[in-house]
Amino acid sequence: MAKIIAGIGSSHVPAIGAALDNGKTEEPYWKRVFSGFEKSKEWMAKTKPDVAIVVYNDHASAFSVEMIPTFALGCAAEFPPADEGWGPRPVPVVKGHPALAAHIAQSVILDEFDLTIVNKMEVDHGLTVPMNLLFGQPKDAWPCPVIPLAVNVVMYPPPTGHRCYMLGKALRRAVESYPEDLKVVIFGTGGLSHQISGPRAGLINSKWDKSFLDNLSKDPKKLTRIPHLEYMREAGAEGIEMVMWLIMRGALDDKVDEVYRFYTVPASNTAVGHIILENRHKAANKDKRAHAAKSRQAAARKAAHRIASKGR
Ligand SMILES: [Fe+2]
Repeated sequence: MAKIIAGIGSSHVPAIGAALDNGKTEEPYWKRVFSGFEKSKEWMAKTKPDVAIVVYNDHASAFSVEMIPTFALGCAAEFPPADEGWGPRPVPVVKGHPALAAHIAQSVILDEFDLTIVNKMEVDHGLTVPMNLLFGQPKDAWPCPVIPLAVNVVMYPPPTGHRCYMLGKALRRAVESYPEDLKVVIFGTGGLSHQISGPRAGLINSKWDKSFLDNLSKDPKKLTRIPHLEYMREAGAEGIEMVMWLIMRGALDDKVDEVYRFYTVPASNTAVGHIILENRHKAANKDKRAHAAKSRQAAARKAAHRIASKGR
């Protein structure tokens, strides 16, 4: 059975991609950002997922104002990097997992979440920047297949945080009904607080961001009740991207282990947030093993009792 073992939240600031692509990672401004992901890369190298589901938003690269699906699942065999105005980023083509993606589409749609199935799609910094931050900069291939899930957070109305959280739960049911043993991680990307235009351009609200991260870890249901207007007011117009983190969080256990967190301000004009949350599968496995051992002992006692009774 496939299993979601962990969730990763990460900002997907385009300037981070530009810094990587132009060899600026050692500059003090950028080193502050990249050093916050060193431990995460080690965690990812140790975790070695078989598949990553990456929840992100497209920035008018694959979709335009002519057509914006609320939830679009990438079911293709591969997703080339998009040309975002300066040519495609020099990153490997993202390989998909069509079999698992088709299974997820079927399960989630029959679970009454009407996803758009996308069989051809380019992916932009929204997906590739978090990939770099967690997997480094591989030359030829990313270390695991990826299922992109694009969410509309660019044109009103985006989905509610609650809808996103419930979709995460449906994704989990989908993954866990896939028969092959696969270790799956899920990314929620975007944010944190930022506003790129208008009189409040440059807005960053660290206090609100940090409280969001605290609740994401310990009380995610509280976050599902935040209305769009509060995201706009407190986290800026583009802060609404944070609803995507709730898809990731919904796909995890109610209680999780926060294994890492990083927050820094700013990168470009955005607050950078990052968190790694693990399901408590290890503890659950331990409980299962203890239960199995107890059952074996009870069976052995019964068998011994039967033999002793026959002897009498
Ligand atoms: Fe974005």
